[in-house]
Amino acid sequence: MKTTEIRRKFLDFFISKGHAEVTSSSLVPHNDPTLLFTNAGMNQFKDLFLGLEKRNYVRATSSQRCVRAGGKHNDLENVGFTARHHTFFEMLGNFSFGDYFKKDAIEFAWELLTSVYGFPADKLTVTVFHTDDEAFNIWKDVIGVPEERIIRIGVKEDGSSDNFWQMGDTGPCGPCSEIFYDHGDHIWGGPPGSAEEDGDRFIEVWNLVFMQFNRDESGILHPLPKPSVDTGMGLERLSAVLQGVHSNYEIDLFQTLIKAAAKSTNTTDLEHNSLKVISDHIRSVSFLIADGVLPSNEGRGYVLRRIIRRAVRHGYKLGQKDIFFHTLVSTLADVMGDAYPELIEKKFHIQDAIRQEEIRFAETLEHGLKLLESDIKALSGAKTISGETIFKLYDTYGFPVDLTNDIAREQGLELDMDGFEACMEEQRARARAANQFSAEKTVAVDLDKPVEFVGYTENHLDTIILELAKDGELVDALSEGDQGIIVLERTPFYAESGGQVGDHGSIANGDNLFIVEDTKKQGDAILHFGHVSKGSFKKTNQVHAKIDEQYRDDIRKNHSATHLLHKALQEILGSHIEQKGSLVTYNRLRFDFSHNAPIPLEVLQEIESHVNKAIIANNPVEIEVMPIDDAKAKGAMALFGEKYGDEVRVVEMGDSLELCGGTHVARTGDIGQFRIIQESGIASGVRRIEAVTGLHALSLVQGHVRLVVELSEALKSTPEQLVIKMHQMLNDLKATDKALQQAKSKLALVASDEILAEAQEINDTKVIVALVPEVETKLLRELADKLRSQSQGIVLLGSSVDGKATLVAAIEKSLTNKVKAGDLVNVAAAIVGGKGGGRPDSATAGGQDGSKIQEALDTAKAWIQDKI
Ligand code: ALA
Repeated sequence: MKTTEIRRKFLDFFISKGHAEVTSSSLVPHNDPTLLFTNAGMNQFKDLFLGLEKRNYVRATSSQRCVRAGGKHNDLENVGFTARHHTFFEMLGNFSFGDYFKKDAIEFAWELLTSVYGFPADKLTVTVFHTDDEAFNIWKDVIGVPEERIIRIGVKEDGSSDNFWQMGDTGPCGPCSEIFYDHGDHIWGGPPGSAEEDGDRFIEVWNLVFMQFNRDESGILHPLPKPSVDTGMGLERLSAVLQGVHSNYEIDLFQTLIKAAAKSTNTTDLEHNSLKVISDHIRSVSFLIADGVLPSNEGRGYVLRRIIRRAVRHGYKLGQKDIFFHTLVSTLADVMGDAYPELIEKKFHIQDAIRQEEIRFAETLEHGLKLLESDIKALSGAKTISGETIFKLYDTYGFPVDLTNDIAREQGLELDMDGFEACMEEQRARARAANQFSAEKTVAVDLDKPVEFVGYTENHLDTIILELAKDGELVDALSEGDQGIIVLERTPFYAESGGQVGDHGSIANGDNLFIVEDTKKQGDAILHFGHVSKGSFKKTNQVHAKIDEQYRDDIRKNHSATHLLHKALQEILGSHIEQKGSLVTYNRLRFDFSHNAPIPLEVLQEIESHVNKAIIANNPVEIEVMPIDDAKAKGAMALFGEKYGDEVRVVEMGDSLELCGGTHVARTGDIGQFRIIQESGIASGVRRIEAVTGLHALSLVQGHVRLVVELSEALKSTPEQLVIKMHQMLNDLKATDKALQQAKSKLALVASDEILAEAQEINDTKVIVALVPEVETKLLRELADKLRSQSQGIVLLGSSVDGKATLVAAIEKSLTNKVKAGDLVNVAAAIVGGKGGGRPDSATAGGQDGSKIQEALDTAKAWIQDKI
């Protein structure tokens, strides 16, 4: 039986026992701050167990997607080390909300396992909570399990028990009874409760929880309104037994994923543990992204990041140094898309999010692994990896701690977590200090001559330290961890000016390293702001100063593109265009200019094309220093109100000629391409254009293409037909909506005969109090009026639409001396948390709580009886 059929058989069995099939809820729990991820089938029913919510069923069944990574139930670290743990799995369950209890739950489970799935009864062992005689006796007397295979499980030293299940630190909980399958004595392991229980021989397949309590924050157990049932069976474990294999990873679904993982990592050994980890992780990662989580540095996003990075490291271990993990999304969509269509719908989005994270981690993975390898060698036999190493891997190389632990565990090593925590604390202290440090805490530096900026032509050079500063004061030295400022005699670092941001990079002296985070001018000096990441620095030290070249290259592209944009605006919009502001950074440019109307899309695209043509022309960028008068004579654009010296720098590319001190590409073709992100107004008569260049522009375009392709696929259309298709669909939707409204009116009016037939005679007056399923107020009004004229009596109708209650009363005029419509609706409205009003013969009310509508009608009926 394939996994898909096994899932279906489970649900069908419980449907045949009167259960409603409920679809899986999202992995990100809604409105439940106690939960990181959905970790069990019962999560979405929490309020039903607690009696806070009622639905129109008291028995339910579901196949719920679950993630157990982080939070109370965490299996991340076991994946790849056992045959049965997963970060993502599907939990099959049946639930009773105050309906049946232990006996039925046990009987259903036994019937399904032995009669439907055909488990041999003698392969099953069960456990009960040590004091639960009732469950023990049901297994023994009703089912007939031999006593030696019913094991009582007690409470551990820490107060927890394997046979007392709880969703989290608070919430519904209760004793449970678990069913184990014995895979046979060729596999190591012992029955539950024995010393060998952690082995893989006896595998828990089903957990039947007898929900009885709600645990509050102080740990106290309060009885639930009614005893209930919550069960959970891992689909993968069940499939393993039914497919006659011992490991979950051998079932059909996993084999397909493992083969795809092997192909994408060029691995021939299909038994390799890393393939299991990768095929487990692609499931949790894809489903989490489908449910709206994205990799980040905190909360759910960080758990996702950890799982992706762990998978990538396993790929690397298999020799795959390129990005590969995202390619598995297609295979997953093939094998699970039937049951979870969102995998197909969001395929591109999922792939893209994974790919981006892979690229991010690829930059540091190799270096981090090398560092770890050399530190492990240096341990020379010792067993503990130091806190500093764990910290460095975490902080500099983006290795989540569990990833480092994963590697350590493979080599029989441990982590010094106390040492790591100490490093984290130091870092937090540094961050606190850094927060107090700000750009305003700059210093005045007295220099004999101005610092020489050589960054137009050089990216790195040897020089000496003239001054150091910390907390706004000049100092003689900076030591490790200090935030501060270094002033050099010569520098390749561009100091923020003319809208171009300051450079990043490093200043080094042997092993001593200062990371430059920003560069600014101060009189004659150029200040390098940053922190000492290693060693220390003193005045007069010889150092090597080096800018971050990639960062600067991206800035160059944006600065040259800004000139081309400026020129294009003047050509296309007119000579009134004047620069009002500019920001040039590595990932975007922003240009503000005088113009008094929004720019239509066609014109914006024309501007964009104009700039791209200038890029393709690949003109050289010629830079020359000349007397200001010569520059003006040549026609160079100068900024109005800006002060220039006698000598100015003129930057020429094609027909653009500007005075500018910034850094530029060598030829316009180096910009690659130029794309406008948006155009907006920022003040009266001032517009702003934001744009990207180079690879940043490429990824913007790729994102748009993906969006169109995804939309076309989802709407079963093509990019060319998309707009037509969308209009068609909107029209269809309108027509359907109209037809639906008409059908509803008809239905409701037809219903009036049925309702009339149910009318009661009370003291010679016809009384109609009825619940009408999901009808809006207007229709309910029509229906009530019709019933009043048919019955000549008192009519009260209620309906619940989208969880909200509507009530309508209509009363024959001659009866309004006894019962007023306004009073009547308000008696009912009080119960659904609402209020209403109207005339004595006709009134309407609404209420927030549609689930109480029946109760409201019953109360109103009793009230009418008293009045007539
Ligand atoms: N909620 C129970 C479990 O997760 C069934 O094991």
